[in-house]
Amino acid sequence: MNQAITIKKLTLAMWEQYKKLRLQALATEPQAFGASYEKESTMTDDEWKEKVTGFLTDNRSPLLLAIYNDQLVGMIQASFESNEKFRHIAHLFSFYINPVYRGKHIGKLLLTAILAEIQKRRGIIKVKLNVNPNQESAVHLYESFGFNITGKSEKEIRIGNSFYDQYYMEKFL
Ligand SMILES: CC(C)(COP(=O)(O)OP(=O)(O)OC[C@H]1O[C@@H](n2cnc3c(N)ncnc32)[C@H](O)[C@@H]1OP(=O)(O)O)[C@@H](O)C(=O)NCCC(=O)NCCS
Repeated sequence: MNQAITIKKLTLAMWEQYKKLRLQALATEPQAFGASYEKESTMTDDEWKEKVTGFLTDNRSPLLLAIYNDQLVGMIQASFESNEKFRHIAHLFSFYINPVYRGKHIGKLLLTAILAEIQKRRGIIKVKLNVNPNQESAVHLYESFGFNITGKSEKEIRIGNSFYDQYYMEKFL
């Protein structure tokens, strides 16, 4: 199946497909993300375009997409610190594969591609991320790429009356 998967960078032209996958991610697995469906589902189309434009400005927050048969099926995003003392650090977030396409190594392809993208940046030596320990596939995948759990924060995310912990993970390049 991997032969049919294309990994490409988000462009402004794809804002609507990105919006659809992003809202699907937030609606179906709210416990996996810090952002909320309730907030982002009220954004206007212009706000979505502005959000994408912001990612693209200076390649500030590159977002990679996995495309299968012209359908957007997955995504992952990186960001970089602007404060001088932290400019050696990149962050990963917004990692999501449409459930229909999971377990087919598309996540692996996206993670490999975003790490290659990060490595193109001069001076980045460390990649960090936060993950809910309940997202076992994600935790296993990160560990298989050499990320280590460096800490755990209890009841870090609240959704209604439920609380979720967070692992902090990092990997040196
Ligand atoms: C995490 C996620 C992106 C992985 O995507 P995926 O395309 O299904 O992952 P892959 O098929 O590339 O799997 C790669 C590896 O992940 C691990 N993995 C995947 N599914 C797993 C499962 N159900 N149980 C345990 N490990 C699993 C395995 O190590 C696997 O490698 P292997 O098949 O060689 O053993 C996907 O499960 C997802 O979108 N989850 C919900 C959102 C989420 O948790 N995002 C992370 C936020 S920090």
